[in-house]
Amino acid sequence: MPLWVADMDFAAPKAVEKALQQLVAQGTFGYGIPPSGYFSAYQGWQDRHWGTKFEEKWLSFSTGVVQSLVDLLHCFTEPDDGILIQPPVYYPFFDSIKETKRRLIEAPLQKVGNSYRIDFAAFEAQIIEEKVKLFILCSPHNPVGRVWQEEELHQLLAICQKHEVVVIADEIHRELILGDQQFVSAITVAQRLGIEKLIVLDSPSKTFNLAGLLLSHVWIPDLEMRTTYHAWCRQYKQTEVNCFGLTAAKAAYESGDQWLADLLSVVVANEEMIRQQLQEAFPKIELLPLEGTYLLWVDLRQVIAKERTKHVIQDTAGLAVDYGEWFAKDGQGLIRLSLATTPTIIQQALDRMIEAIKKEERHDD
Ligand SMILES: Cc1ncc(COP(=O)(O)O)c(C=O)c1O
Repeated sequence: MPLWVADMDFAAPKAVEKALQQLVAQGTFGYGIPPSGYFSAYQGWQDRHWGTKFEEKWLSFSTGVVQSLVDLLHCFTEPDDGILIQPPVYYPFFDSIKETKRRLIEAPLQKVGNSYRIDFAAFEAQIIEEKVKLFILCSPHNPVGRVWQEEELHQLLAICQKHEVVVIADEIHRELILGDQQFVSAITVAQRLGIEKLIVLDSPSKTFNLAGLLLSHVWIPDLEMRTTYHAWCRQYKQTEVNCFGLTAAKAAYESGDQWLADLLSVVVANEEMIRQQLQEAFPKIELLPLEGTYLLWVDLRQVIAKERTKHVIQDTAGLAVDYGEWFAKDGQGLIRLSLATTPTIIQQALDRMIEAIKKEERHDD
């Protein structure tokens, strides 16, 4: 049962389907430019949700956040430069740094009680010691589910500013905020602090299940950095994005609000179901609070020997999940589950997981 990749089992909003059908019916698919009103649809969405202020001139399109990350590493750093990340974190960050031959520097998050926190002193010490040039922020944070608060972002960005570290904020999960949490964009905090060396990456792909349409945004407020980036892209003759991605995203930003609210309530209900049943069966399983994303971070180390996790979850339960060691060196024994599916599938997964862990316990006896 696939609960690993971060996309959903739900159809995109109806308005998206309709807009794509209209595009198909028109029958011509020549080179395109962003449809008129694209930026105002995006900004309108931001105004209705988090109030983040963007300017149209900051925007470049890309085919994906990870692709942009690699482009930006090439563009703003040199081989062997130190690039800082905060494990446990989305594993393509590690790959992008290694594959571009930059130096991978880690400032791991700290688990304090049942939540993850930033050790600001260790973060700054790594920047100084390793002469870090660029920091990749994941906000909200995949896989630990934290929605970084304004104060936390303020501290991070202020440290980066002090040491002239460029910040790339990956905000792909920015709309997937659960409960009472408020999302604050790094761009808002940077505006307040007068920070220029910041790039924000986002995309409609996670929010509206559009990953296959290959459309994402690169927001670069600083003119000099934007000029450097554009020159870099020109050099590689990067193609513009495709008309389907633009059409779908515009429709989603214009009228995907209720669809998103419904999605988030399913995610919350799925989380409650897992929390209740897993903790009833195994009180020692630790489920980290899910503030944002639809990806639940589960610590199985108190109930399964960590080197047996894959055997129990994959071979016995038949679940495909993401494993903790993909996100951090010391992550073995944790798993990440995607909750963007139906309660029926979650229930089946739960039944299989509970049975598999019980079988493992009997095996231990
Ligand atoms: C934090 C984060 N960034 C980027 C991506 C992938 O983005 P893209 O498909 O646009 O490369 C994901 C997908 O799960 C993600 O969780």
